[in-house]
Amino acid sequence: MNLLEKISSLAKRRGFIYPGSEIYGGLAGFYDWGHLGNELKFNIKQTWWRDTVQLRDDVVGLSAAIVMNPKAWEASGHLTGFSDVLVECPKCHKRFKADELGKKNESLVCVECSEIFKGKARQFNLMFKTFVGAAEEAAAVAYLRPETAGGIFVNFKNVLQTNRLKIPFGIAQIGKAFRNEINPRDFVFRIREFEQMELEYFIHPVRNNPVKQDAAVPPQAAGRISNGVKPQTPTEWLSYWVGRRLKWYESIGLKNIRLREQSQEERAHYSRATVDIEYKFPFGWQEIEGVANRGDFDLTAQMKVSGKDLNYFDEETKEQYTPYVIEPSAGVERIALAVLCEAYLEEKERIVLKLNSKLAPYKAAVFPLLANKEKLVELARSIYDDLKTEFMTAWDDRGNIGKRYYSQDEIGTPFCITVDFESLEKNDVTVRGRDTMKQVRVGIRELKEYLKKKLVK
Ligand code: GAP
Repeated sequence: MNLLEKISSLAKRRGFIYPGSEIYGGLAGFYDWGHLGNELKFNIKQTWWRDTVQLRDDVVGLSAAIVMNPKAWEASGHLTGFSDVLVECPKCHKRFKADELGKKNESLVCVECSEIFKGKARQFNLMFKTFVGAAEEAAAVAYLRPETAGGIFVNFKNVLQTNRLKIPFGIAQIGKAFRNEINPRDFVFRIREFEQMELEYFIHPVRNNPVKQDAAVPPQAAGRISNGVKPQTPTEWLSYWVGRRLKWYESIGLKNIRLREQSQEERAHYSRATVDIEYKFPFGWQEIEGVANRGDFDLTAQMKVSGKDLNYFDEETKEQYTPYVIEPSAGVERIALAVLCEAYLEEKERIVLKLNSKLAPYKAAVFPLLANKEKLVELARSIYDDLKTEFMTAWDDRGNIGKRYYSQDEIGTPFCITVDFESLEKNDVTVRGRDTMKQVRVGIRELKEYLKKKLVK
């Protein structure tokens, strides 16, 4: 088994991630998240929300509808421009994105059956179509959003007016997005239903630096803007957000990260510059987040189609303008997969997920040494009930202690607490750390504070 297979097998066995609709043979590109996977995703989203919205004065949240008036997608360019080039192998009939074909002696070949490719290519729009209301006719066609950003642009005026915001400010959103990917692949890396964490950060288009405003950011310069020095130009803001996002990845323990600037040909139709944040997956360096300078593309386009004024008026300078937008856009499932890849470790006698404790589904597990000793169970239960009020805590009284440690290591629980006979006399417990496997005795009265100090905030 390769590493990705090992991780997907653990993910299924322990209830992180199940193949979607498995009892019917599955549905490609769709996955269901079990109890532990759900907690992991929840923790990722929560730390992102805290960092991006709650700890800042200049960002507010939004939760827009998944289905919008299709005119919004006409305006955004997704109806015409959000497509991949689809090719079908004439021999094995497998479908690919054109850039996935292999090469042999300068000919393009099918990567499945090696047939030299002579088939026709066609544009394939990635948006899922649906119908609104009872009629299945053209007038009722709507789309599942392919990015959460759309809902932010159409609400720009509402949010601005109700929150008394001044530029620069951001609107953040976490929610589902759907793409009818031609070739879903690599477990939950490329799927058809996923969640995005997006920030649209609105800025003044040009300040003192009109010439360099659209210059792409050199990756090595990203994040250099230190605290206290306010970015001015779009390029500086792009750099600022790349830097902030790198810090966030560091804070959740992702190390195998690099930046890559997209070439002009790669960039989305709305982008003036995009820096990808990539993670080194077992299948190579791949994007987990894109930070783009979308310029004034979206607000201008929505104004044109809706006929509504989405400009910004600066009360102080009396200047009216269409703001530019810098967009850090991250995928929750891709980050969850990166986190699992980074954390997965096979040691001599165990498999362990060395998850950052902020992301671990359970922060601690409580065991009575023996399940049939009433006094032990009673004391362990009271500790469990108490810890549960502070953080996610697991209970396990099956099998022997070794098996329980093994089981918690495999799902990344940072601390295991055992109540034994000594606990009844001395009012203390054994606390065993996941990473060091070392055990210490801690007084029951100090236990909660002890664990809180050890767990990363
Ligand atoms: N609003 C900008 C935008 O959507 P994107 O680069 O197409 O940009 C942003 O997507 C992020 O969303 C990606 O970096 C990735 O993490 C996630 N994402 C996109 N397509 C995905 C897919 N098919 N499966 C899983 N995640 C995906």
